[in-house]
Amino acid sequence: MTAVWKTTAALFSDAAPFAIRAERASDVRAREALLDASFGEGRHARTCQRLRDGRAPAEGLAFTAVHAGRVVGTVRLWHVSAGGVPALVLGPLAVDASCRKLGIGAALMQHALAAAKARGHGAVILRGDPDYYARFGFSAAKTGDLALPGPFERERLLALELRDGALDGTCGMIVPTGAAARPPRARLIRTPRLAAHAA
Ligand SMILES: CC(C)(COP(=O)(O)OP(=O)(O)OC[C@H]1O[C@@H](n2cnc3c(N)ncnc32)[C@H](O)[C@@H]1OP(=O)(O)O)[C@@H](O)C(=O)NCCC(=O)NCCS
Repeated sequence: MTAVWKTTAALFSDAAPFAIRAERASDVRAREALLDASFGEGRHARTCQRLRDGRAPAEGLAFTAVHAGRVVGTVRLWHVSAGGVPALVLGPLAVDASCRKLGIGAALMQHALAAAKARGHGAVILRGDPDYYARFGFSAAKTGDLALPGPFERERLLALELRDGALDGTCGMIVPTGAAARPPRARLIRTPRLAAHAA
Protein backbone atom coordinates (compact mmCIF):
# COMPACT_ATOMS: atom_id res chain seq x y z
CA MET A 1 0.00 0.00 0.00
CA THR A 2 1.34 3.43 -0.85
CA ALA A 3 0.77 6.17 1.69
CA VAL A 4 0.50 9.58 0.09
CA TRP A 5 0.76 12.91 1.88
CA LYS A 6 0.21 16.47 0.91
CA THR A 7 0.88 19.31 3.31
CA THR A 8 -2.81 20.16 3.43
CA ALA A 9 -3.56 16.61 4.62
CA ALA A 10 -3.25 18.07 8.12
CA LEU A 11 -6.59 19.73 7.45
CA PHE A 12 -8.26 16.39 8.01
CA SER A 13 -9.95 16.49 11.36
CA ASP A 14 -7.97 13.58 12.78
CA ALA A 15 -4.87 14.41 10.69
CA ALA A 16 -4.83 10.83 9.37
CA PRO A 17 -3.12 10.33 6.02
CA PHE A 18 -4.88 8.84 3.08
CA ALA A 19 -3.70 5.74 1.30
CA ILE A 20 -4.09 4.32 -2.17
CA ARG A 21 -4.55 0.58 -2.38
CA ALA A 22 -5.94 -2.06 -4.72
CA GLU A 23 -9.70 -2.07 -4.83
CA ARG A 24 -11.36 -4.77 -2.73
CA ALA A 25 -14.71 -6.47 -3.21
CA SER A 26 -15.81 -4.84 0.03
CA ASP A 27 -15.23 -1.37 -1.51
CA VAL A 28 -17.86 -1.80 -4.21
CA ARG A 29 -20.88 -0.46 -2.36
CA ALA A 30 -19.02 2.65 -1.15
CA ARG A 31 -17.46 3.13 -4.59
CA GLU A 32 -20.85 3.08 -6.30
CA ALA A 33 -22.25 5.57 -3.77
CA LEU A 34 -19.24 7.83 -4.35
CA LEU A 35 -19.75 7.66 -8.13
CA ASP A 36 -23.48 8.40 -7.82
CA ALA A 37 -22.68 11.42 -5.64
CA SER A 38 -19.92 12.61 -7.98
CA PHE A 39 -21.57 12.14 -11.37
CA GLY A 40 -25.29 11.74 -10.64
CA GLU A 41 -27.34 8.69 -11.38
CA GLY A 42 -27.31 9.52 -15.11
CA ARG A 43 -23.68 8.45 -15.10
CA HIS A 44 -24.65 5.06 -16.53
CA ALA A 45 -25.77 6.77 -19.75
CA ARG A 46 -22.40 8.45 -20.32
CA THR A 47 -20.56 7.47 -23.50
CA CYS A 48 -17.51 6.05 -21.71
CA GLN A 49 -19.76 3.70 -19.79
CA ARG A 50 -20.24 1.84 -23.11
CA LEU A 51 -16.57 0.86 -22.80
CA ARG A 52 -17.14 -0.61 -19.33
CA ASP A 53 -20.55 -2.25 -19.51
CA GLY A 54 -20.27 -5.91 -18.60
CA ARG A 55 -16.48 -5.80 -18.47
CA ALA A 56 -13.98 -6.31 -15.68
CA PRO A 57 -11.31 -3.66 -15.14
CA ALA A 58 -7.82 -4.45 -16.41
CA GLU A 59 -5.97 -6.84 -14.12
CA GLY A 60 -4.45 -5.01 -11.13
CA LEU A 61 -5.68 -1.60 -12.28
CA ALA A 62 -8.55 -0.71 -9.96
CA PHE A 63 -7.63 1.48 -7.00
CA THR A 64 -9.29 2.91 -3.92
CA ALA A 65 -8.26 5.89 -1.82
CA VAL A 66 -8.96 5.38 1.85
CA HIS A 67 -9.00 7.91 4.66
CA ALA A 68 -9.69 6.95 8.26
CA GLY A 69 -11.02 3.59 7.10
CA ARG A 70 -13.45 5.16 4.64
CA VAL A 71 -13.48 4.92 0.83
CA VAL A 72 -12.86 8.49 -0.39
CA GLY A 73 -11.59 7.97 -3.93
CA THR A 74 -11.70 5.58 -6.85
CA VAL A 75 -10.11 5.07 -10.24
CA ARG A 76 -10.10 2.12 -12.62
CA LEU A 77 -8.64 1.31 -16.04
CA TRP A 78 -10.16 -0.84 -18.77
CA HIS A 79 -8.87 -2.68 -21.81
CA VAL A 80 -9.84 -1.19 -25.17
CA SER A 81 -8.82 -1.30 -28.78
CA ALA A 82 -8.17 2.18 -30.16
CA GLY A 83 -8.66 1.62 -33.88
CA GLY A 84 -6.93 -1.74 -33.52
CA VAL A 85 -4.20 -0.61 -31.11
CA PRO A 86 -4.39 -2.07 -27.58
CA ALA A 87 -4.81 0.66 -24.95
CA LEU A 88 -6.46 1.38 -21.63
CA VAL A 89 -9.32 3.73 -20.90
CA LEU A 90 -9.20 5.43 -17.50
CA GLY A 91 -12.28 6.25 -15.50
CA PRO A 92 -14.27 7.06 -13.67
CA LEU A 93 -12.00 9.06 -11.36
CA ALA A 94 -13.76 10.50 -8.34
CA VAL A 95 -12.90 11.84 -4.90
CA ASP A 96 -15.41 12.37 -2.10
CA ALA A 97 -16.50 16.03 -2.02
CA SER A 98 -15.37 16.34 1.61
CA CYS A 99 -11.80 15.36 0.67
CA ARG A 100 -11.16 17.25 -2.56
CA LYS A 101 -8.19 19.56 -3.24
CA LEU A 102 -5.97 17.55 -0.94
CA GLY A 103 -4.07 15.74 -3.65
CA ILE A 104 -6.07 12.51 -3.53
CA GLY A 105 -7.13 12.77 -7.19
CA ALA A 106 -3.53 13.36 -8.24
CA ALA A 107 -2.32 10.50 -6.07
CA LEU A 108 -4.88 8.14 -7.60
CA MET A 109 -3.87 9.24 -11.10
CA GLN A 110 -0.14 8.90 -10.48
CA HIS A 111 -0.55 5.52 -8.79
CA ALA A 112 -2.79 4.20 -11.58
CA LEU A 113 -0.53 5.45 -14.38
CA ALA A 114 2.61 4.05 -12.74
CA ALA A 115 0.90 0.70 -12.25
CA ALA A 116 -0.27 0.63 -15.88
CA LYS A 117 3.23 1.42 -17.10
CA ALA A 118 4.76 -1.21 -14.83
CA ARG A 119 2.38 -3.76 -16.35
CA GLY A 120 3.63 -2.90 -19.83
CA HIS A 121 0.63 -0.99 -21.15
CA GLY A 122 1.43 1.47 -23.93
CA ALA A 123 -1.22 4.15 -23.66
CA VAL A 124 -4.10 5.49 -21.58
CA ILE A 125 -7.11 7.28 -23.05
CA LEU A 126 -9.84 9.16 -21.19
CA ARG A 127 -12.65 11.61 -21.67
CA GLY A 128 -12.29 14.52 -19.29
CA ASP A 129 -11.40 18.11 -18.60
CA PRO A 130 -8.11 19.01 -20.34
CA ASP A 131 -7.43 21.58 -17.60
CA TYR A 132 -7.32 18.84 -14.99
CA TYR A 133 -5.66 16.03 -16.93
CA ALA A 134 -2.94 18.08 -18.64
CA ARG A 135 -0.97 18.01 -15.37
CA PHE A 136 -0.55 14.24 -15.81
CA GLY A 137 0.58 14.61 -19.43
CA PHE A 138 -2.76 14.00 -21.17
CA SER A 139 -3.56 15.88 -24.36
CA ALA A 140 -5.65 15.58 -27.50
CA ALA A 141 -2.51 15.39 -29.67
CA LYS A 142 -3.00 11.70 -30.55
CA THR A 143 -6.79 11.38 -30.38
CA GLY A 144 -7.87 13.48 -33.37
CA ASP A 145 -8.69 10.44 -35.51
CA LEU A 146 -10.22 8.34 -32.72
CA ALA A 147 -13.89 8.14 -31.82
CA LEU A 148 -15.99 6.90 -28.92
CA PRO A 149 -19.11 4.76 -29.30
CA GLY A 150 -21.47 7.66 -28.54
CA PRO A 151 -21.53 11.43 -28.30
CA PHE A 152 -18.34 13.11 -27.08
CA GLU A 153 -16.59 16.46 -27.29
CA ARG A 154 -13.49 16.17 -29.46
CA GLU A 155 -11.41 18.45 -27.19
CA ARG A 156 -12.17 16.25 -24.16
CA LEU A 157 -10.90 13.02 -25.71
CA LEU A 158 -7.38 12.84 -24.31
CA ALA A 159 -4.53 10.37 -24.24
CA LEU A 160 -1.17 9.75 -22.63
CA GLU A 161 1.46 7.50 -24.14
CA LEU A 162 3.23 5.35 -21.56
CA ARG A 163 5.47 4.09 -24.34
CA ASP A 164 6.62 6.63 -26.93
CA GLY A 165 4.75 6.31 -30.20
CA ALA A 166 2.22 3.81 -28.83
CA LEU A 167 -0.64 5.78 -30.40
CA ASP A 168 1.12 6.92 -33.57
CA GLY A 169 -1.24 6.80 -36.52
CA THR A 170 -4.17 5.39 -34.56
CA CYS A 171 -7.56 6.05 -36.08
CA GLY A 172 -11.01 4.58 -35.76
CA MET A 173 -13.39 3.57 -33.03
CA ILE A 174 -12.40 2.89 -29.44
CA VAL A 175 -14.08 -0.37 -28.46
CA PRO A 176 -13.99 -2.46 -25.29
CA THR A 177 -11.82 -5.58 -25.23
CA GLY A 178 -11.74 -6.43 -21.53
CA ALA A 179 -12.78 -9.72 -20.03
CA ALA A 180 -16.40 -10.16 -19.04
CA ALA A 181 -17.18 -9.05 -15.50
CA ARG A 182 -17.87 -11.87 -13.11
CA PRO A 183 -21.54 -11.90 -12.12
CA PRO A 184 -22.17 -10.93 -8.51
CA ARG A 185 -21.98 -13.95 -6.22
CA ALA A 186 -25.38 -15.55 -5.77
CA ARG A 187 -26.77 -14.78 -2.35
CA LEU A 188 -27.55 -17.63 -0.09
CA ILE A 189 -31.27 -17.53 0.47
CA ARG A 190 -32.16 -18.86 3.86
CA THR A 191 -35.63 -20.28 4.13
CA PRO A 192 -36.91 -20.51 7.66
CA ARG A 193 -36.98 -24.14 8.71
CA LEU A 194 -40.54 -25.30 9.04
CA ALA A 195 -41.34 -26.47 12.49
CA ALA A 196 -41.95 -30.17 12.32
CA HIS A 197 -45.05 -29.84 14.38
CA ALA A 198 -46.46 -26.77 12.65
CA ALA A 199 -50.21 -26.78 12.41
C1 LIG B 1 -11.69 15.82 -10.40
C2 LIG B 1 -11.46 15.26 -8.99
C3 LIG B 1 -11.28 13.75 -9.08
C4 LIG B 1 -10.17 15.88 -8.42
O1 LIG B 1 -9.93 15.28 -7.16
P1 LIG B 1 -9.04 16.05 -6.06
O2 LIG B 1 -8.66 15.08 -5.02
O3 LIG B 1 -9.75 17.28 -5.62
O4 LIG B 1 -7.78 16.45 -6.95
P2 LIG B 1 -6.41 17.10 -6.50
O5 LIG B 1 -6.46 17.44 -5.06
O6 LIG B 1 -5.33 16.21 -6.95
O7 LIG B 1 -6.36 18.40 -7.40
C5 LIG B 1 -7.22 19.45 -7.10
C6 LIG B 1 -6.96 20.56 -8.10
O8 LIG B 1 -7.57 20.18 -9.36
C7 LIG B 1 -8.45 21.20 -9.74
N1 LIG B 1 -9.56 20.60 -10.46
C8 LIG B 1 -10.47 19.73 -10.02
N2 LIG B 1 -11.35 19.42 -10.98
C9 LIG B 1 -10.96 20.12 -12.06
C10 LIG B 1 -11.46 20.24 -13.38
N3 LIG B 1 -12.55 19.57 -13.76
N4 LIG B 1 -10.80 21.04 -14.25
C11 LIG B 1 -9.70 21.71 -13.86
N5 LIG B 1 -9.18 21.65 -12.63
C12 LIG B 1 -9.82 20.86 -11.74
C13 LIG B 1 -8.92 21.81 -8.43
O9 LIG B 1 -9.43 23.11 -8.62
C14 LIG B 1 -7.63 21.81 -7.65
O10 LIG B 1 -6.82 22.91 -8.05
P3 LIG B 1 -5.73 23.53 -7.03
O11 LIG B 1 -4.74 22.43 -6.71
O12 LIG B 1 -5.16 24.64 -7.82
O13 LIG B 1 -6.52 23.93 -5.83
C15 LIG B 1 -12.62 15.59 -8.04
O14 LIG B 1 -12.82 17.00 -8.07
C16 LIG B 1 -13.92 14.90 -8.38
O15 LIG B 1 -14.15 13.77 -7.96
N6 LIG B 1 -14.78 15.59 -9.12
C17 LIG B 1 -16.09 15.01 -9.49
C18 LIG B 1 -15.93 13.89 -10.49
C19 LIG B 1 -15.14 14.33 -11.71
O16 LIG B 1 -15.36 15.39 -12.26
N7 LIG B 1 -14.20 13.44 -12.09
C20 LIG B 1 -13.30 13.71 -13.20
C21 LIG B 1 -13.97 13.48 -14.48
S1 LIG B 1 -13.36 14.61 -15.72
